[in-house]
Amino acid sequence: MAYHEQIIDQIQQASDIVEVISACVPLKRTGRNFKANCPFHHEKTPSFIVSPDRQIFHCFGCGAGGDVFSFLMKHEQMNFPEAVRHLADRARIPLPESEKQVRSERSENDRLYQICQVATEFYHAQLMNPEMGKQGRAYLSQRGFGPDEIKEFQLGLATQEWRALLQHVIKKEFSEREYLRSGLISKSAQGNTFDLFRNRIMFPIMNAQGKVIAFGGRVLNDDLPKYLNSPETPIFKKRRELYALNIAKRTISGTDAVRQILITEGYLDAIRLHANGFKNTVATLGTSLTEDHVRVLKRYADESIVVFDGDRAGEQASLRSLDIFLEEGMGIRVLSLPRGFDPDDFVRAKGQEAMKQLIRESQDIFDFKLQVLLRRFNKSDSMGLLKITSEFLDTLSKLKNFVLVDRCLKRLAATLGVEEASLRSELAKLQKKQQGTQKSEAVPVQTTASNLQADRKGNQLERVLLSLLLHYPPYLLALKEAFPNFSFLDSKLNRIFSLMDQMVCVDQMPEISTSKVLNRINDEELKALVSSLLAGEWLSHENREQAFQDCLRALKKEEHSKRLRALRNRISQAEDQGDENLVLKYMKDYQTLLSEEQ
Ligand code: CTP
Ligand code: MN
Repeated sequence: MAYHEQIIDQIQQASDIVEVISACVPLKRTGRNFKANCPFHHEKTPSFIVSPDRQIFHCFGCGAGGDVFSFLMKHEQMNFPEAVRHLADRARIPLPESEKQVRSERSENDRLYQICQVATEFYHAQLMNPEMGKQGRAYLSQRGFGPDEIKEFQLGLATQEWRALLQHVIKKEFSEREYLRSGLISKSAQGNTFDLFRNRIMFPIMNAQGKVIAFGGRVLNDDLPKYLNSPETPIFKKRRELYALNIAKRTISGTDAVRQILITEGYLDAIRLHANGFKNTVATLGTSLTEDHVRVLKRYADESIVVFDGDRAGEQASLRSLDIFLEEGMGIRVLSLPRGFDPDDFVRAKGQEAMKQLIRESQDIFDFKLQVLLRRFNKSDSMGLLKITSEFLDTLSKLKNFVLVDRCLKRLAATLGVEEASLRSELAKLQKKQQGTQKSEAVPVQTTASNLQADRKGNQLERVLLSLLLHYPPYLLALKEAFPNFSFLDSKLNRIFSLMDQMVCVDQMPEISTSKVLNRINDEELKALVSSLLAGEWLSHENREQAFQDCLRALKKEEHSKRLRALRNRISQAEDQGDENLVLKYMKDYQTLLSEEQ
């Protein structure tokens, strides 16, 4: 049975390759990737890499590689449909043919999803109830939230009744075990069961697929605690989830130059931003940002903008948490609101345009960090200087992009008035110390711009270019625009390229996911080639863009010299034939062409 690409995409989105592979192979974290002894050939030192960013595996020893589907096919000897069914099952995504089965299965987690959905509808109905919901709606309206927001975010109301939800879920035939497991109903030491949420505005928390997995509840007055969240359950891990991601991910377009996402801290902050057109906003759920958050965000965006309340920006904790983005290789900027404002207050008071302005002015993480450090320590006393440099270098050591490190070091040296060379040697020491625990990985595609100068025959440029296209398919359109008849000299690379090219023509959209490309390749060798190209790291959007522009430039140069060469040949032919006029004409062309060279 052939499955629709959409459902395959959905299954892949829901199946983290690291989780799937680690069920079969013990993985060890190394920097951004995971490593293990390759399960496909015998080895003593691990050369099998799993990349959570790219959702691929690759063995530098035997060349095996691919995505989560290919792993199962190879390791568990499944065929493609079997791998699809296996992962769909695991992610509880119903497949067209097995819907009945899934419905009858009613596994425990399904019941949790169901109870959350039932509760969402229940709370929402209470909020919309003309009498019962009056006070709740009045509260929201006084805070500037109306029917549109209530509907879009499925807001609800828990009344002061102790057992309203409890009675409702019993009526819906949920067992005690099930409703206690959902966390929405609590049981006292005396054995009394009652609703966890009472007298609160209810915010259903949805996962990235839009399923309700938990709730946040806010009091209608100044009682404490102001917010109450569902406890952790098998379907709710608050350190992984982001409020409103299900909506935000749809609005971030793959064709945006830089796909940005705004990160706030509160439900109402996120809702306010959405209501004002900033639909690419999510909120954390009462925790600080975690690695898991960043890994999820990276799937949908290139760059995060962390929005800090005016009085929070300098906190040590938030400074540290930003390093996660660098470690995970995601672009990160910081937006600091004026003192006394949170995002909700700010947008409500100052409006959409003012917010847009702040987004434009959001700071590069390095500028932000430096500024905070300069405020905190005195750079003109030696202790202060030491603090600033060590904090800053610590952050820099997490960067893998030399170009960026270089630029930051220059800036740091200039700002602090110290020798760049001494900063550089400090940084080198630090990196050496860190590398002691982490052997460097064999990354086949080098990412510095300098080695793009290599000619096409050397294959390096072609590999870099194809790797860029695979990482960011919209480049394919840019490439075709510059070189309508482009092809790769290397025949294997060219086969992958023509495949992608066909997909663009068919779909008329540059939405080629890696899995789609991999799905269309049967040849194991080509599959491994794709995964090895994907194993190269393109740290930030900026870096990637620069590399792509370098490629285009190199290709243009190449074409230019090819044309010059052809003209030279023609000139000498014309000379041989003694055709003065033709020689003259070609000489002119040659001059023109030469002057076109930048
Ligand atoms: N939070 C929480 N538990 C609390 C307080 C806060 O989990 N006791 C989390 C909630 O997710 C909340 C976020 O932290 O949305 C931000 O809280 P806070 O800044 O205190 O409130 P605001 O978002 O400004 O809330 P409001 O505007 O409703 O007063
Ligand atoms: Mn607020």
